[in-house]
Amino acid sequence: MLSKAGLGSRTEARKWIGAGRVQVNGKVIQTPDHWVDPGKDEVTLDGKAVRAAEKAYLLLYKPKGYLTTYKDPEGRPTVYALIEDLGRHVVPVGRLDLDTSGLLILTNDTLFAERIMNPEFKVPKTYLVKAAGVLGEEQMERLRNGVELEDGWTRPAVVTRLRNRENSTFLEMTITEGRNRQVRRMLEAVGSKVRKLVRTAIGPVRIGKLEIGKWRVLEREEVNALAGEDWFKRAKADDRPRAPRKPVPGGGGTRDARGPRKRQSGGGTGRGGGSKGDSRGRARFAGRPRAKK
Ligand code: URA
Repeated sequence: MLSKAGLGSRTEARKWIGAGRVQVNGKVIQTPDHWVDPGKDEVTLDGKAVRAAEKAYLLLYKPKGYLTTYKDPEGRPTVYALIEDLGRHVVPVGRLDLDTSGLLILTNDTLFAERIMNPEFKVPKTYLVKAAGVLGEEQMERLRNGVELEDGWTRPAVVTRLRNRENSTFLEMTITEGRNRQVRRMLEAVGSKVRKLVRTAIGPVRIGKLEIGKWRVLEREEVNALAGEDWFKRAKADDRPRAPRKPVPGGGGTRDARGPRKRQSGGGTGRGGGSKGDSRGRARFAGRPRAKK
């Protein structure tokens, strides 16, 4: 409750409790797991009443070079330096690597955050990727069908070639998991490498015209669209039993025995996800993506 009230991080709250500074109904509490009913119990920190904070939902355009952790033992900058003016404690919904830029949602609504992060819900996350080399169709198909990583096969992804350059390929990729360094590892699995990575959308929420390093409050409709029951229902409807994967001739690893998954028109996941077929080139690597919708 202390961190939800926006007073500080969970770690800080634990320290306050350990130091005997927190009381519930007039009694000092000793354990951070002490259950409180915010509707009934009176919680105080240093004698001052603690009230549940209003829910806050932000969208930050994270630049490269910022960590999504609260504090860094090495003193590197974290995203909290960019939202100092908020005055409430919020936590990132999932992580972006130090070298990844783009859309990061931060909130003090833990239930909401859990739903977005839970892979069961298959909330689509869309990325612009600059990959090393000109990818061949076979590599593209492998990315689409799923590749084998050390922590298992990835789910099918929606992968669209935006353009080729002399020695690189620009792609839009929509994935419905959030594994550690997933996009980077997927590209490595097909013999390429991520040179630049920008997250442009989570579900229906797009980074739009937000400037790099800036944040805005999410619109009520955006929060509702993300938090809606729909993701879960769609995820369940999509959970058809899958046939085992078979080796693919030509070193393409293995793939679903049903054969390559047909690319859905619309560029997103076909579930109203963050990417639309007309979205090519909409968001730019320059850090100033064009308009949403
Ligand atoms: N995939 C990655 O490899 N890195 C990110 O930051 C996000 C997705």
